[in-house]
Amino acid sequence: MQRLDPTLSDEEFSCFKQFILQEAGIDLPASKRSLVQSRLAKRLRRLGVGSYGAYWQLLRKPESQAERQRAVNMLSTNETYFFREPQHFQWLERRALEIQQRGGAVKVWSAACSSGEEPYTIAMVLAETLGMRGNWRVYATDINTKVLGLAKRAVYPTDRVQRTPPLLWQKYFLRGRDEYAGMVRVLPELAKRVEFSSLNLLHCNRFAHADFDIVFLRNVLIYFNEGTKLEVLRKLCSRMREGGHLLIGHSESLHKLNLPLAQEEPSRYRLVCGHGGEG
Ligand SMILES: C[S@@+](CC[C@H](N)C(=O)[O-])C[C@H]1O[C@@H](n2cnc3c(N)ncnc32)[C@H](O)[C@@H]1O
Repeated sequence: MQRLDPTLSDEEFSCFKQFILQEAGIDLPASKRSLVQSRLAKRLRRLGVGSYGAYWQLLRKPESQAERQRAVNMLSTNETYFFREPQHFQWLERRALEIQQRGGAVKVWSAACSSGEEPYTIAMVLAETLGMRGNWRVYATDINTKVLGLAKRAVYPTDRVQRTPPLLWQKYFLRGRDEYAGMVRVLPELAKRVEFSSLNLLHCNRFAHADFDIVFLRNVLIYFNEGTKLEVLRKLCSRMREGGHLLIGHSESLHKLNLPLAQEEPSRYRLVCGHGGEG
């Protein structure tokens, strides 16, 4: 007989809502209740836990740190693809050349990098513009340790790289064979130019690297409420170089947030004065 999965009650939903808000700043509206239920259902089955309430009790235990990370991985949304919002990459080409002409290194941060498509796209553009051995570096961080593992592996199904311009496709992907048929690998020489690490944007002022010329913070602010956005952006500004640029997703906005950022284009901002945020 088919076993019925338990249902996530409103009360249980509010426990997980509070959890992911505190851990990651992700503010889940009530409409996401069935999404939360389906994302956690498999884990409940795997652990043999009979209800969401029991799973919540497990998560709360001080010794459940690894399980809490797993829950964060399950509750964060990681959709991404190569060359997403391509205007940003056309602009990156021009900006990288300007920085190089001033004689500086180009330091770029993909601050919610998911499974790596965004930072590898940045790396391809910089390698094309400044040379594979040019004076540039890409740093990439995310809170989700599962997608970071995929990012470091740098292997993607062929249909996931379709938006890559054909010339770059040929240059920067290796076609898989045998058990990797239907997959591509990012050219190791390029992949080496991207440094991945796990970082929670709520604490991004503690990132070991700073003085970024360009920060990609795309398609993550949509999950935060206004208070969290402000907190994250203040901290993020403290890691940027004065005059550095911030790129956000086209559907996102920093409207009415009191930040030292001047808007240059709808989804592009420039840090206008010193370290505007918390150090
Ligand atoms: C929809 S993806 C966007 C990926 C990429 N930036 C893009 O635009 O294609 C959002 C990413 O933000 C990450 N994220 C959510 N909350 C975060 C936090 N507090 N700290 C760091 N990363 C976070 C998620 O794990 C996810 O990988």
